[in-house]
Amino acid sequence: MKIVSTGNSEGLSSKISSILGIPLARVNHRRFADTELYVRIEEQLNEAIVVGSTYPDSGIIDILLTADAAQNAGAKKKVLLVPYFGYARQDAMFQQYEAVSARVLSELFLERFDKIFVVNMHSPEGMAFLGNKGKEIRAESVIGERVKEDGNDVVISPDDGFREEGENISKVAGLESIYLNKKRVSDTKVEITIPEGFSVKGKVVALTDDMISTGGTILESSKVLKQNGAKAINVYCVHGLFVSGTSRYAGFVDSISTTDTVDGPFSKMTVSDIVASSLREYFGH
Ligand code: R5P
Repeated sequence: MKIVSTGNSEGLSSKISSILGIPLARVNHRRFADTELYVRIEEQLNEAIVVGSTYPDSGIIDILLTADAAQNAGAKKKVLLVPYFGYARQDAMFQQYEAVSARVLSELFLERFDKIFVVNMHSPEGMAFLGNKGKEIRAESVIGERVKEDGNDVVISPDDGFREEGENISKVAGLESIYLNKKRVSDTKVEITIPEGFSVKGKVVALTDDMISTGGTILESSKVLKQNGAKAINVYCVHGLFVSGTSRYAGFVDSISTTDTVDGPFSKMTVSDIVASSLREYFGH
C-alpha cells in the first residue's frame, strides 16, 4: 500500500506516511506549457491512499488524474482522503436551477474511489452525497486541545452552523460555549450580533469556525466582540483559505490557528493523527 499525494497535499501526506509507516509513492506532477496538469505514478501499486484537497480548483483535476494514474499503476483498491472538500457550501439549490457543486464533486469521486474520507465537511447534507462510501473525520478534538493550551475563557462560534462543533470544542477545553447571530448580506459581508444576556467583557475568546475564506465572518465577529469588551480574540478554524490574504487580520485578532488541511502560515495544528487513526481503523491495522 502507498500514499499518493496530489500537488496540494504533500506536507500532510508526509506526516500521515510517517505516522502509519506507509511509504509515499513516487509521483511525477508537472505542468505542460499551457499549464495543463500531467500526472504519472512512477511505480506499480497494489492499494493507494490518494490525498488531495479540492482547493484551489486545480486540486479537483489533480485528484481525478491521480485516480486514473493509480488505476493504471495497478491499484486494486483506491481510497481518497480529502483534507479540505471545497465546493461543499453549495450543498443544495438555494435558488431554482443552480448547480449543486457538492453533489457534482461527490459523484466524480464516488465513480473512482472505494472509500472517501473528508475532514470536517461543511455540512451533513454535503456528506450525505458520499453515501456509505463517505466517512467524515472531525477535527474538534484537535482544536479543543489547542484552545485549552492557549488559556481561553469561552468558546464562541460565529453562527448556528458551527454551534455543535463549538460545543464539542468547548467540552474538550473544559469551557462554556455560545454562538453569535450571523446574517450574510453578500459573499464578502456579514452582520453579527451577540445573543442578549451574554457578556464577553474582560474575556479571552476562542472564536471557532469551520473555515476562513474571505475572513469577513471572523473579522466582523472580532469587531463586535471587541466593541463589547472582549479582552482578546484567539481565532481557530479547521480550514484556513485566506483568499483575501493574511495582513487584514492584524490588529483585529490576537492570534490565528488553523489545521493543516490547507497548508498555510497559521497551520499550527495537525489533523495527521486523527486521519491516521481513521485510516488504521478502516484498513484494520
Ligand atoms: C459559513 O457557513 C462558514 O461556516 C464560514 O463561517 C464561512 O464560510 C467563512 O467565510 P468567510 O471567511 O468568507 O466569511
